[in-house]
Amino acid sequence: MPIISLKDVSKLYGFGDATTVALDEVNLDIEAGEFVAVMGPSGSGKTTLMNIIGLLDRPTHGQYKLSNRAVEKLRPGQRAKARRDRIGFVFQSFNLLPKLNVLDNVALPLVYRGVRPVKRLKRAADLLERVGLEDRQYFMPNALSGGQIQRAAIARALVNDPQIIIADEPTGNLDSISSLVVMELLSELNKTGNTVLMVTHNPELTRYADRAVYMHDGAIVHDQKTAKGQIPQLAKKTMQLFPRRSEEDDLAGVSAMMELLPQKDGSKAKKTKSKKAKKKSRVKHKVKSTKDKDV
Ligand SMILES: Nc1ncnc2c1ncn2[C@@H]1O[C@H](COP(=O)(O)OP(=O)(O)OP(=O)(O)O)[C@@H](O)[C@H]1O
Ligand SMILES: [Mg+2]
Repeated sequence: MPIISLKDVSKLYGFGDATTVALDEVNLDIEAGEFVAVMGPSGSGKTTLMNIIGLLDRPTHGQYKLSNRAVEKLRPGQRAKARRDRIGFVFQSFNLLPKLNVLDNVALPLVYRGVRPVKRLKRAADLLERVGLEDRQYFMPNALSGGQIQRAAIARALVNDPQIIIADEPTGNLDSISSLVVMELLSELNKTGNTVLMVTHNPELTRYADRAVYMHDGAIVHDQKTAKGQIPQLAKKTMQLFPRRSEEDDLAGVSAMMELLPQKDGSKAKKTKSKKAKKKSRVKHKVKSTKDKDV
């Protein structure tokens, strides 16, 4: 039984002519313990997909089952609880609160859970030790390096012992050494049983995953299982074509990757949808704003 199961999930933003189809009937099953790398050009729907899986947003259409439970049937309180207890988020833009020290930042999710101060600070300290920041507990976030902040963010994501870690470009702002440390941490968490979903523009990082999912125009266009430690064929090809020098190269590479995708009918990969196709898609869906209020 998959821990995450999406069936024909669509997400539309806006109304009428200004409608954007951010996700277009996505089907995706993820088993507990998988490490999935999600790739795709800018605007292809990766963050939207993560936000829906992470219960930060709701689909406009389709079903999402988390551990075989229909998410749309959860009451707001149950939904917030599921998000808090089962999912840990690590974002690209570092998101520690600037006025709290590192220890308090990491302990913060436990405040909402009603855990007593001594217990929550002990737990936060243990996690900071785990990510190698035991000597930075009492620092303010502005006194940490980018890599250290991201490690603290991972510690905070883990404080509720979530089953699922969602990392949206966790190494986007980091140099290669700090990226390596963050990736090793995610990898270790995966080895100890966490399901990890990671969005990345860097094909090299797919080597940590055991599955690579490629998105384009709100759809999953390729889904490939890979051996851990190996870079999937498609990502490898992109790396050869576009050796990595900068973040821009990654984005160019991901776009090029879409062109390389094998098509069932032998034609080239689908490009940006035609205006007509987009319109058709708009008509097909009934637009409804469903942004969550309980975040
Ligand atoms: N709140 C919103 N309101 C309107 N449109 C949105 C909103 N959020 C996302 N979109 C649109 O949905 C599409 C998918 O966006 P999303 O952020 O999921 O892309 P992405 O693959 O994460 O891109 P990137 O690699 O740049 O982070 C884009 O066209 C975007 O403009
Ligand atoms: Mg994004």
